[in-house]
Amino acid sequence: MKNIIIAIDGYSSCGKSTLARQLAKELNYHYVDTGAMYRAVTLYLIQNQIDIHHPEMVANVLNQISIAFDFDEATQTQITLLNGENIENQIRINPRVASAVSDVSALSEVRRFLVKQQQELGKNKGIVMDGRDIGTVVFPTAELKLFITAEASIRANRRLEELKEKGQNTTYEEVLANLAKRDHIDTTRADSPLVKASDAIEIDNSNLSKDEQLDQVLKLVKGLQMNGNG
Ligand code: DC
Repeated sequence: MKNIIIAIDGYSSCGKSTLARQLAKELNYHYVDTGAMYRAVTLYLIQNQIDIHHPEMVANVLNQISIAFDFDEATQTQITLLNGENIENQIRINPRVASAVSDVSALSEVRRFLVKQQQELGKNKGIVMDGRDIGTVVFPTAELKLFITAEASIRANRRLEELKEKGQNTTYEEVLANLAKRDHIDTTRADSPLVKASDAIEIDNSNLSKDEQLDQVLKLVKGLQMNGNG
């Protein structure tokens, strides 16, 4: 069967990465979490005290940033490396990253820098990539485009659980407010705002279990592969 590109877009904390990871495992595809790449750039800018409100200063340091992914077989998780250092934990729990990442990802210089790398990662297909602009900008010709949504309260609760599991002490209200802020910036920025591609299939997973969602999507993938569209 031919390899295809699966592009998954949607709001923050909709379970995109869970679905992407499941699909990659099931299909033996590579998974790329593009949000992690924007988080890695954000962490670098924070660590090096680069003012994100000066795009020219940000642009000047991008060539010092190298992002790579490793896979931890023991825990079956992807590890993001920034200039060779494992930053997976930091980019997930550092509140400064969470609050600055949407502003950083609104910068055209940063987007151009990362989109080029994402396109390179997908050039051999056999890839599941999740983010906000994958079906619209990174891979506009992807064979399968999914747009994932879920109710805001459900997303906030899921994110709260995730943070608690990682030992972060936060409240439902804080998480909900952070999600609302990120959604607003992601959907209203001038460069590649989050929008559903016209040919994307929308899945609202508010009332779906992870496995039900996976089954639905696997049927779509199999259909594409059998029809020879892959
Ligand atoms: O998916 P995430 O929450 O890890 O994404 C972090 C931020 O990066 C989010 O505010 C949106 C932005 N992002 C983006 O603009 N484009 C992508 N392809 C992926 C993420």
